[in-house]
Amino acid sequence: ENWFCNFFDAGADGFKFSARNGHFQMVTGPSIKRNGTLILCYCRGMNRSISYLPAILLEWYDRHQRVLPWSARAGAKSDPYRVWLSEIMLQQTTVATVKGYFGNFLGRWPTVTDLAAAELDDVLHAWQGLGYYARARNLHKCAQTVAGQLNGQFPSEEGDLLALPGIGPYTAAAIAAIAFDRAATPVDGNIERVMSRLYRISEPLPGAKLEIKARAAAMTPSSRCGDYAQAVMDLGATICTPRKPACSLCPWREHCAASRAGDEGSFPKKIPKKRKPTRVGVAFWLEDRCGRILLRRREECGLLGGMMEFPSTDWVEGTWQDDEALAAAPVKTDWQIVSGTVRHTFTHFHLEL
Ligand code: ADE
Repeated sequence: ENWFCNFFDAGADGFKFSARNGHFQMVTGPSIKRNGTLILCYCRGMNRSISYLPAILLEWYDRHQRVLPWSARAGAKSDPYRVWLSEIMLQQTTVATVKGYFGNFLGRWPTVTDLAAAELDDVLHAWQGLGYYARARNLHKCAQTVAGQLNGQFPSEEGDLLALPGIGPYTAAAIAAIAFDRAATPVDGNIERVMSRLYRISEPLPGAKLEIKARAAAMTPSSRCGDYAQAVMDLGATICTPRKPACSLCPWREHCAASRAGDEGSFPKKIPKKRKPTRVGVAFWLEDRCGRILLRRREECGLLGGMMEFPSTDWVEGTWQDDEALAAAPVKTDWQIVSGTVRHTFTHFHLEL
């Protein structure tokens, strides 16, 4: 048997040391070093002092797992189609919003082959309200690739998943872990927050991403990988929340450096945001005799790719003179100026129309 030596920080109120799964053994006699709050102990079969954290979290997950329409019960096998569909829908959208859409999609297209055979317009229509229509187009393209070239089977390797339309590093890792129980490490905003608090990472985001990813990867266990990935997500969503985290209920509380220091609210550190510029545009409202309003579809690539919009001038930092704006009108007619401004804030700028 391999025994590894670790130091544990006993902390202010003592390290609650338990023989979890037979992995730990307190060593008595001269080999215990009580040096301030550090305790030397030996750990069987594992060479990192963090190696018991996944077990603690999984124990919590077995009791507190969120019931989500796409997740299998703890320990059970997941359906890759459901996992993929939910992960694409969850990109930049909340669990609460996704639930209804997920049920509707699954009802209409129960398998990836059904979705691949659907008309793109029907898919886009069913997607309405989830935003980012490029995601719906990629969803359809990906279904066609899986149904056509991969015999309806999603690949299980993170690298192969990454090659499919609409699947980025986070989603590839989430699908590999949750659907195929691979030891992959999805890291999204929730998991960044959990790791940065657990290790009290002082470097601000986005610079800290590498360290966070490395910390998260080092923690990923080699069994129950899917449950573990979902457990960290659940922890981030329900306990380790951005504001007012419920540390008293957290299974990792004793091991969380920020919670122990009492400053969990200040993690993750972030570089102060640059002031957002304001862009200005003039929109054109054109109605025909039946009351139909002219809309146009945006370019597929770029901001709001493929979405419908009112025709407008470019959006610029500055102001528009009436005659400059009219040059961008979709038709020549007797345009009337309507007073009032519509404001919206994007990630990188404010917009006034
Ligand atoms: N956000 C992204 N993936 C998720 C998942 N599998 N469960 C809950 N929230 C998520």
